[in-house]
Amino acid sequence: MPRKLFVTTALPYANAAFHIGHMMEYIQADTWVRAQRMRGAEVNFVCADDAHGAPIMIAADKAGKTPQQFVADIAAGRPAFLNGFHIVFDQWHSTDAPENHALSKAVYLALRRNELIEIRSVEQFFDPDKGMFLADRFIKGECPKCHHLDQYGDNCDNCGAVYAPTELINPYSALSGAKPVLKSSDHYFFKLSDPRCVAYLEQWTQDGKLQPEVANKVREWFARDADGKSALSDWDISRDAPYFGIEIPDAPGKYFYVWLDAPVGYLASLKALLERRGEDMDAYLAQPDLEQVHFIGKDIITFHTLFWPAMLHFSGRKAPDHVYVHGFLTVSGTKMSKSRGTGISPLRYLELGFNPEWLRYYIAAKLNPHVEDIDFNPEDFVARVNADLVGKYINIASRAAGFLSKRFGGRLSADLGVEGQMLLDGLRAPAQALAQLYEDREFGKAVREVMALADRVNAFVDLHKPWELAKLAGQDAALHDVCSVCIEAFRLLTIYLKPILPALAVQVEAFLRVPAMQFADAGRALGAHTIAAYSHLMQRADPKLLEALFEPPAEVPSAAPDPGGEAIAAEIAIADFAKLDLRIARIVEAALVEDSDKLLRLTLDVGEAEPRTVFSGIKSAYHPGDLAGKLTVLVANLAPRKMKFGLSQGMVLAASHADTQVDAGIYILEPWPGAKPGMRVR
Ligand code: MSP
Ligand code: ZN
Repeated sequence: MPRKLFVTTALPYANAAFHIGHMMEYIQADTWVRAQRMRGAEVNFVCADDAHGAPIMIAADKAGKTPQQFVADIAAGRPAFLNGFHIVFDQWHSTDAPENHALSKAVYLALRRNELIEIRSVEQFFDPDKGMFLADRFIKGECPKCHHLDQYGDNCDNCGAVYAPTELINPYSALSGAKPVLKSSDHYFFKLSDPRCVAYLEQWTQDGKLQPEVANKVREWFARDADGKSALSDWDISRDAPYFGIEIPDAPGKYFYVWLDAPVGYLASLKALLERRGEDMDAYLAQPDLEQVHFIGKDIITFHTLFWPAMLHFSGRKAPDHVYVHGFLTVSGTKMSKSRGTGISPLRYLELGFNPEWLRYYIAAKLNPHVEDIDFNPEDFVARVNADLVGKYINIASRAAGFLSKRFGGRLSADLGVEGQMLLDGLRAPAQALAQLYEDREFGKAVREVMALADRVNAFVDLHKPWELAKLAGQDAALHDVCSVCIEAFRLLTIYLKPILPALAVQVEAFLRVPAMQFADAGRALGAHTIAAYSHLMQRADPKLLEALFEPPAEVPSAAPDPGGEAIAAEIAIADFAKLDLRIARIVEAALVEDSDKLLRLTLDVGEAEPRTVFSGIKSAYHPGDLAGKLTVLVANLAPRKMKFGLSQGMVLAASHADTQVDAGIYILEPWPGAKPGMRVR
C-alpha cells in the first residue's frame, strides 16, 4: 500500500509579496514532498493565502481597495514566485474562499456543542473616530515606567517594560490619532483550560509528533501552579466588526479572530483540491493510514501545537500527525531588511538570471531537522554552487558525454569492468539511507553524502584519465567503459538529488533517454543503452552578479504598505506648532550606552554655553563614529527627562515607520549646508 500524505506549508499573510524566508519554507516542504513521491507515496500538498485580519483590512483601506480586491492582487502575484522556484502545490487557495467559511463555522459549532465555547465581557480600547476596537499594535502612548513617548500598546521600546495598553499615559490610536475610550464587548473564548483540552494536549504534544526541542518548549506551557491548575489559558477567538473575516454563527457583528480560520484553511484548500477531482474530503481524512503533516516556522508554534490540534480533535476531526518546525533564514547573518538592502527579492534573483535550482541546492545543503536559523551568505552561496554542484556533480557528465557520442554513437557499454562495477555498487548501496535522510529532513546530510559520492567518481575519472585513453591506440574499450561508468554514476547521483533539483533532473532524463526517475531506479543499471547528445546542463554562478542581487527591487509591488504606516495626526493651529522650539544642533560626540541595545548618548552643541546630553533610540541605525560632527535638529524645549542612564535634555528628530515590527529603518534629520548650531527651525 502506498503511503498517503496530506502536507501543508504555513499559509502566508496576503499583505505582501514573498520574501526569501518564505521561499525557504516552500523549498523545504517541496523537497520533502518530492522525495516522498519518488518513493511511491501519494501526496496532496496544499497551501493558501491567509486573507483575514485587521492588518490586511487596514492595508487594503490605505491602498484604496476592498480587502477582497487587495488579497486577490496579492494572490495574482504568487505563481511567479512558485513556478520560478519549481515549487508545485496541488492547490493554492484562500482562507476567504467559501469552503473555509463553511468549514470554520462547522468547527466552531462542533466546539460549541462540546461546551468548549464561552462568552465573556472584555474591556478594550476603542477608536471613536474609526469606530473600531484597537488591537494592541494599533495603540500608542507614553510609557508608564520611563515616560518615553510613542510606545506601543503592550511594551516599551525604550525601557523594555511590559504592561497592559490601558496603563499607557495619554494613549492614542495609531490609526486616527484619536484618544481611545474603554469599551466593553462580548468576546467568544475557546476553553483551552478545560481539563479535557489540557489532558488531550499534554498527551498529543509529548508522544513523538513534534521535534524533541519543540516538545520540550511546549511542555513548559503546561506547568501547573501550586493548586495543580494548568497554566493553559482560554483563547479569545472573536473580534468585533468592522473586521475582515468570517462571521460567527448566531453572533451578529462578531467575527472569528484570523488565527481561528487560518489553519482551517488547510482543510479548505484540501477540500477544493479533492472536489476538483471528484473526491470526498471526509472520506479521504478518515483513512486510518493517512498522515497529516504541517511545515511551519518557529514563530507560529503555539497556534499549531495547542490551538489547532485541540480545535480539530474536539470538533471530531483528525489531528495532525506531525508538525515540522524550521528556523528562520537570515541574510549575511542579519535579519532581512529592505531598507539596508540586505533582503533578497526572490523575483529579482530570477530576473538577474540566477538559476532557481542554485537556491534550492544551497538552502537544502544548509537545512537540518532542527529549529535552527540558517544563513544565506552570498560568497558561500557562489562557492557551494560552483565548487560542489557544478564542479563535482555536473562535471561528471560533461567529462564523459563527449567521448561517448563522438566515439561510440552514444551507446553505453554493458560490461563495465571490475573497478567500475565496484564504484557503482558503492554508489548504489546508500540509496535507502539517502531516502531516509530525506524522510528525516536531513537535507544537509543528504547533500554532503551525495557530494562525497561525487568525489569518488571524480577520483575514478582522474585515475583513468579518459582524455588520455582517447589519444592512445587500442584503448577504445577502456575509454568506453570509463565513460559508461561515469554516465551510470551521474544517473545515480541525479536520482539522489532529484528532490532538490527537479528541473535539472528532467533535463538529465531527456539526456539519458529514461522515463521519470524514482528512488527504486537506483537499484537497476542502464546497461547497453543509447543516450542523447549532451548539451550543457548548468552554468556556474557569476560572483559579479551578487552585488546586483542586493539592490532594492526594481518594482515596488502595488500592494506594498505605505512607508509610514501611520495616519496623519489630528490638525493643529500654528500656535500649537510655535510652542515647539526646534534648534540646529551639532553632534559633538556620539557614544554607546552600557546596558542599552537601543540608545546612543549624544553630546550636542546648540549654541549654548554648555553642550546638552540627549539619549536617542537610534543605535540600530547608526554607528557612533558616523554621527560625530554632523548637524541635526533638536526639540530644545522638551521637559528634561530622567532616565536610568542619566538626564536627557531634549530629543533629536528622526523618521521611522509607525510599526516597530516593520523594519523600515530610522533616519535622523540633517539640515542643508550652511545651517549653524543654535539656529531655530520654524
Ligand atoms: N499567516 C500566518 C500563518 C498561518 S498558518 C495557518 C503567518 N504568515 S507569514 O506570512 O508571516 O509566515 C508564513 C511562514 O513563513 C511561517 O511559517 C513563517 O514562520 C515563515 N517565515 C517568515 N519569515 C521567515 C524567515 N525569515 N525564514 C524562514 N521562514 C520564515 O505566519
Ligand atoms: Zn519605557
